[in-house]
Amino acid sequence: MDFALAGHRIVLTGGGSGIGHAAVDFLLRCGATVSTCARDLDRLRESWRDLDPETARRLHLFRCDVFANDQVGRFAFDAARAMDGIDGLVVNANSSSGGDAPKTTASQYSKDVNQNIAAAAHPIMTTLPYLRRSECPRIVIVDGVAGRTPDPALASRSSAPAALGSYTTSLSFALAKDRIGVNRVRVGVIDTPHQRERHRESGSELSYEDWLRSEAAKRRIPYKRVGTPSEVAGPIAFLLSPLSSYMTGTALDVSGGK
Ligand SMILES: NC(=O)c1ccc[n+]([C@@H]2O[C@H](COP(=O)([O-])OP(=O)(O)OC[C@H]3O[C@@H](n4cnc5c(N)ncnc54)[C@H](OP(=O)(O)O)[C@@H]3O)[C@@H](O)[C@H]2O)c1
Repeated sequence: MDFALAGHRIVLTGGGSGIGHAAVDFLLRCGATVSTCARDLDRLRESWRDLDPETARRLHLFRCDVFANDQVGRFAFDAARAMDGIDGLVVNANSSSGGDAPKTTASQYSKDVNQNIAAAAHPIMTTLPYLRRSECPRIVIVDGVAGRTPDPALASRSSAPAALGSYTTSLSFALAKDRIGVNRVRVGVIDTPHQRERHRESGSELSYEDWLRSEAAKRRIPYKRVGTPSEVAGPIAFLLSPLSSYMTGTALDVSGGK
């Protein structure tokens, strides 16, 4: 399975753990060249330490905080130079917080929405000149199904992907004239370090594995389990590939049916 991605040059934010790491791994196995970033470059390098030398030549690692515009500009420039162009961008690194609906303040909503748009808009704006020169230009945004089905316990965290969805649709219309596909992968609960952090914060006495099972039951996920990062990687690769040539402004849900 290679999705006809051999030789494609992909930029992905947040490739050091979780969904981003699994997606980079999958893209490399498809023969793509990848540039990825994280805030902690040492940890990012450590996460890719065991790569074989041939594959390692197709992976470029950078330090970049997606919320710092100057760093994002530099990352896009350095990635394009390292790969001699950019064919696809995956907006993966993001951040949001927030508690339940009545207690969440307006400023918390604004902060989460602003951050989610910024994490997409800055990397998109800076990679756009390179994408316009590509034969197969694609933008894929990773966000949560909570934008479609809000979680009242995570009110502003649900508003943020909803805003991102609207932003993506507008962008897909605007970039259609450039043949740039702009699509989203909306994930449900995926077993990543982010969920381990939620488990720690919850103070639950359940083991992490039992807590994940209880989360799946609480959310009535039809598949009765949470997802794995590698189950998100394939849909991301598909949307980056020539196989998605007539798709834009749409979303693939990877959420076990929820
Ligand atoms: N896991 C889920 O269940 C779930 C559910 C809904 C939506 N999502 C979305 O899926 C995406 C990936 O989530 P994940 O769970 O795989 O995350 P994760 O395991 O926490 O990994 C996040 C990666 O992004 C990097 N990162 C975080 N903040 C960054 C920043 N400001 N600038 C640059 N890099 C940054 C991290 O490295 P550093 O810390 O070194 O920067 C790390 O490599 C996120 O957009 C998240 O909102 C996930």
